[in-house]
Amino acid sequence: MCGIFGYVTNKEENLGPILIEAAKRLTYRGYDSVGAATINGSKIDLRKDVGKVEGVSVKYNFTEMRGSRGITQLRWATFGEPSQINAQPHIDSDGDLVGAHNGNVVNNVELRQQFIAEGMTVRSQNDGETCVHSVERYLNRGYEFIDAIRLAYGDLQGDYAFVIGRVNEDTLYAFKKGSGMVVGIGDGFTCVSSDLPSILPLTRKIVRPQDGEIVTLWSDRVEVRSVKDGKLIDRKAETVTESMDAVQKGGYPHFMLKEIHEQPQVARELLHLLDGSPEVESLVEKMKKARHLYFVACGTSYHAALIGSVYFAQIAGRPAIPVLAPQFIAQYAPAVGYEDVGVFVSQSGETKDVLNALEAAESRGMASYGLANVIGSTLTKATSFCLPLCCGYEISVPATKTFTNQVITFLYLAYRMAGRDPSTGSGRSTRELETIPKLMEATMDAIGSQVEAIAKDINKWNDMYCLGYGATYPIALEGALKLKEITYAHCEGMLSTEFKHGPLSAVSKGYPIVFVAGPNDVPLIISGVNEVKVRGARAIVIAEDDPRLRANADDVIALPKSDANISPLLGVLPLQMLSYHMSVMRGFDPDFPRNLSKTLTVD
Ligand code: AGP
Repeated sequence: MCGIFGYVTNKEENLGPILIEAAKRLTYRGYDSVGAATINGSKIDLRKDVGKVEGVSVKYNFTEMRGSRGITQLRWATFGEPSQINAQPHIDSDGDLVGAHNGNVVNNVELRQQFIAEGMTVRSQNDGETCVHSVERYLNRGYEFIDAIRLAYGDLQGDYAFVIGRVNEDTLYAFKKGSGMVVGIGDGFTCVSSDLPSILPLTRKIVRPQDGEIVTLWSDRVEVRSVKDGKLIDRKAETVTESMDAVQKGGYPHFMLKEIHEQPQVARELLHLLDGSPEVESLVEKMKKARHLYFVACGTSYHAALIGSVYFAQIAGRPAIPVLAPQFIAQYAPAVGYEDVGVFVSQSGETKDVLNALEAAESRGMASYGLANVIGSTLTKATSFCLPLCCGYEISVPATKTFTNQVITFLYLAYRMAGRDPSTGSGRSTRELETIPKLMEATMDAIGSQVEAIAKDINKWNDMYCLGYGATYPIALEGALKLKEITYAHCEGMLSTEFKHGPLSAVSKGYPIVFVAGPNDVPLIISGVNEVKVRGARAIVIAEDDPRLRANADDVIALPKSDANISPLLGVLPLQMLSYHMSVMRGFDPDFPRNLSKTLTVD
């Protein structure tokens, strides 16, 4: 996830060190390229490249950069490969505007074509450059700077924050849509950033602009205007009193809880990105033509692969083989060839087991694609192309938001595989998936105190089960993994119908068993619930509200009504929260469970 920072002062200064420090504070978001620009009178000094802040800033001597306004940006590639030309900031055609963004402009490709047709100089593939040209377009048509920015806002679709400045002026302008952005007011300077932690060491006096607002930053004040009518908005500055640690966690006690709550927003951003991605179509075509299709991953990413294969079969009628990466080497690699397609799924893009499987697949000529969160990771470079998960940095060791975005990507791909018949309009449209972020928010609102109360009740148990069927089976596996990972209790995930084939003997009075039920599987789950209840178990069901479930289970954690394909995805949210509460109640740190590492780069 990229990060931007802009700084305005009242005289020519050595801004390089300020920009370097700000860039360092943004690095936790993850990035592959670094850039800085200063505006000094009529000159723009722009330096940027692929690499880490420490390396790029030394190589290009950022320290010596001077000016009265400065912008720095950390880029995490989505549009255009990591390269010097795609790194940000960007200048306009004749080099008197400079700007940078974070987030994604989903109509990047269309806008770039328009700018080229209008005679502008487009140098990169990157959507940050598109933001700059969007403003340039209206300046070329004779609009005032602020009006050009207002009109550009209307053209740029997606979720992003953007900062821009022009030579021979004393201001920077910034606006946002969907993404976060914070403005700081200091003594003799103002600044703007993608997030609060990068501003706090400079000033605690801040302004929080909203979507649809443009901020003008002078060295001694800021002004907020409405994009719609250009009118001034009276937005009072506030003083931040929380500690840096609390701010980095977004006010939550743990990164895991913050990341759980980020899921609706990253889902929204992902869906926009997938809609605008030319690579989706290409991947869908390759998968349609494949002889065999493999989804290869480990841990949580494997559970996403597993639900992906259920979606592909149920929605697109296309079988796909989900397989744990090391087992792929033993079981399938010897038999695969160039007619087969593999999708390698990994949050980190560095999991050695996954990279070993990829190597085995490629040695047999299999076409290999990726699905990863960390762009610039080995997986993203080693595959033909890799779809980004668009989650930003996931700090907590237990994967949460990256799992739900992996599942949404598979669901989206399954819809695209199924297609929509243009003549009849029948079939699946990915538009139906736009309800997901709101449904996730509704789920989080609904489950809060009930899940915490259940966690308290069952927390004395060090052994439990989590059962599901069809698309909820991988969700049950994922819930069980989360519980094991951060509560250190044993929890087994299993197909609900398998429980009677052995594990039923473990049931005693009060033994907790969580069922996750899809809307079409209620009768089957009720029979499973009764099987365990008559033997004394406490049956907790996660499902859409249903009187039949209420009549049979001990607890029903009710999910909002949704499509039968979306409902299983919502079912993982209460399981994440259950694990979180139980971990905290046991006195553990859910962010950093013992013995585990976020990225497993060993065999
Ligand atoms: C998930 O909570 C775990 N931390 C773990 O299972 C993880 O999913 C697995 O190690 C795979 O990692 P990856 O997605 O980065 O490849």
